[in-house]
Amino acid sequence: MARSVILGTGSAAPGRVVTNLDLEARLDTSDEWITQRTGIRERRMVEDGGKWSDFMVPACRAALEMAAVAPEELDLIIAGTLTPDMFMPSGGCTLQALLGAKKATGFDVAAACSGFVYGLTIADRFLRADPGMKILVAGGEVISQRLDWEDRTTAVLFGDGGGAAVLTGGEDGERGILSSRIYSDGSLWDLLYLPGGGSQTPYGEGFAKKDNTIQMRGNELFKVAVKSMARACRDALEEAGCGAEDVDLVIPHQANLRIIQTLAGLMKVPMEKVYVNIHKYGNTSAGTIPLALDEAVREGRVQRGSLVLLPVFGGGLTWGAVLLRW
Ligand code: ACO
Repeated sequence: MARSVILGTGSAAPGRVVTNLDLEARLDTSDEWITQRTGIRERRMVEDGGKWSDFMVPACRAALEMAAVAPEELDLIIAGTLTPDMFMPSGGCTLQALLGAKKATGFDVAAACSGFVYGLTIADRFLRADPGMKILVAGGEVISQRLDWEDRTTAVLFGDGGGAAVLTGGEDGERGILSSRIYSDGSLWDLLYLPGGGSQTPYGEGFAKKDNTIQMRGNELFKVAVKSMARACRDALEEAGCGAEDVDLVIPHQANLRIIQTLAGLMKVPMEKVYVNIHKYGNTSAGTIPLALDEAVREGRVQRGSLVLLPVFGGGLTWGAVLLRW
């Protein structure tokens, strides 16, 4: 069967490292609390004046280089992000311009942390219809600008960064995306949201700090995240006729090490088969999976023939999983 194949990956993050000790100086928190409750030791953040495309363009260039695809060959650019350079144009259009991808069509997917997995799923559907296309899927955020630095329950969790993958279709055999599932439940929106800037709370007079910062009910989110990702993984594996024991590497959304460990336990997958880099980057929202996938590929943890599972969860609420043979 002809499948969509990832030809190359790339990732990047801003150079400024913010450690838990740096946060101790700023918030009523401790390195011990953050490490034990989340697994995060440091994260990257843009400098003042830094923006999304500063690191997303290098990430996309690295993916194009590994794929040996020129920007001019791209047909489509799908960007999973909540924090492009501007509200308009979309991040997809910004990437198109900065990469010089003249014939590509660019657009964004607003699925919060799930943006990259949603993007892969959309790309896969395009490629099934038109296997000759070359598609760039990117995911990443500048979340540091949307944090309330007086709220220790959210400020310690997030970081900036992202990554990208270049796909094409038509590969016969076992290789490529075997299944991909995406879901949402808008009725649970108030577990994780960013209210300001939409038509309900437009920018202007009376715009409060909390309107421009992430609001979260962490404990409830934790439980829904684990259950939803486990269900998405089960569905994706079932659709492909695989079992969890067949998976060589799970590269999950990096929101909290305890969420990752609980998910692995539910799936009965040992942690040696789970890729974790949350200690270095924190939660980069739509950036976590492409960042981790690229690092796993470049470290040799993903080899030709590896069965790789990418479960994700985010605001919306949104969630899903992609299963692919590398
Ligand atoms: N430093 C020190 N103490 C803190 C901090 C902090 N940064 N944050 C909270 N606390 C305190 C609380 O005030 C509370 O104190 P109390 O017992 O005196 O009331 C105590 O620590 C325990 O708080 P809990 O909220 O119960 O801690 P929990 O173990 O649930 O961990 C966390 C909180 C890390 C937010 C966890 O619930 C979680 O990870 N939830 C998932 C949410 C998530 O990952 N969101 C990211 C976006 S969603 C996504 O990407 C999928």
